[in-house]
Amino acid sequence: MINKIETPKTVAIYVHWPFCLSLCPYCDFNSHVRENINYMHWQSSLIKELKHYAKFTGKRIVKSIFFGGGTPSLMPPSIVDKIINEIEKLFYIDKNIEITLEANPTSAESYKFKEFSRAGINRVSLGVQALNDDALNFLGRNHSLLEAEKAIDIIGSTFARYSFDLIYNRPNQSIDMWVSELQKAIKMAKNHLSVYQLTIEPGTPFYLLLARGALKLPDEGTSASLYEITQEVLSDVGMDAYEISNHASYGEACRHNLVYWQYGDYIGIGPGAHGRITINGAIYATRQHRAPEIWLSRVEENGHATQTHQALDTNSIINEMIMMGLRVTEGIDEQNFLNRTGIKLKNAINGEVSKRLQEGGFIIHDSNKLLATFSGRQRLDSVISSLLNKANVY
Ligand SMILES: C[S@@+](CC[C@H](N)C(=O)[O-])C[C@H]1O[C@@H](n2cnc3c(N)ncnc32)[C@H](O)[C@@H]1O
Ligand code: SF4
Repeated sequence: MINKIETPKTVAIYVHWPFCLSLCPYCDFNSHVRENINYMHWQSSLIKELKHYAKFTGKRIVKSIFFGGGTPSLMPPSIVDKIINEIEKLFYIDKNIEITLEANPTSAESYKFKEFSRAGINRVSLGVQALNDDALNFLGRNHSLLEAEKAIDIIGSTFARYSFDLIYNRPNQSIDMWVSELQKAIKMAKNHLSVYQLTIEPGTPFYLLLARGALKLPDEGTSASLYEITQEVLSDVGMDAYEISNHASYGEACRHNLVYWQYGDYIGIGPGAHGRITINGAIYATRQHRAPEIWLSRVEENGHATQTHQALDTNSIINEMIMMGLRVTEGIDEQNFLNRTGIKLKNAINGEVSKRLQEGGFIIHDSNKLLATFSGRQRLDSVISSLLNKANVY
């Protein structure tokens, strides 16, 4: 039996700023380099698109806003201020709202961070990526370790909460080298770190280098050991993984990202941004035009640059919710699953497979939750595809 899908009272808001000073050879995010940016035009267009979606969701409670990119720390703080002001007019604001800005150490001028803080930003996620200059060079970063350290000092004294990103599984990276880098990172971190395994994305310069044999990543065994040691070292200092690549002290998880993983509603504005919005028992997947110039002209013409606006069928909702939810250490809450899909978890997954995966120690499934264990999270893609192996049931 399929129950009604509940409409959340809350909505998170993602704002995409698609520009960077230069492009990193591993990155396939929607990022572009432009010499001239008409900031006033971008400000008014982002606000137009925000108003468009606010009409669609109605006035809900906003508990988190995330300025992502690209490099949103390159935005003039006045635009960030105007967008936050507009959100305050269009929605109810939770008194503990989390407002995150992604930043690069190159654009970390102290005066700008003070202004971002005055605009309402209360959490910064800094792209440090590596803690030595050779690795930064290899990753094509246009900042040095010293700049990154200075940026962390400034951010640490300006914001109550901050995190920084590191990329590991780099060529020739030994376990010992990574452990000492991680220990250095722990000293610089406050209570949140995002540590990503380098992945080679199609279409990136690294992809071509790998195809030509000019880039060699650690073998599978070393990659697995690097992942395991990361969990161990960070757990030892009380920063367990709350998601595959995200570690935090208790209570310091990024609340905005948890909305994605727990399948809450979110609005996405700006080029390439996507959203999930529930209206009258249907969950809509939205996506904005990806190219900055097309996005601008569509907003000019229509007040928004929506390219996809599609009600998801039950199978897609189940698949998405299981794929996202098993990334999180806490797993999927049974009641939340029922509220969002209209279906009980045990009816959505393959029971036989679930039993075998439990016996193998890859998942735990009880009456309250479904979660992937440590070894399940190490082979999450195959765990998920086996669990969902239930041909077109809804
Ligand atoms: C939107 S990007 C970065 C934002 C910001 N512009 C920066 O460079 O710091 C978010 C994070 O994803 C990670 N990332 C991007 N591409 C990656 C890849 N191919 N492999 C591993 N991590 C990646 C990086 O750590 C990056 O900081
Ligand atoms: S990693 Fe950051 S700075 Fe580099 S291209 Fe991607 S979004 Fe831009």
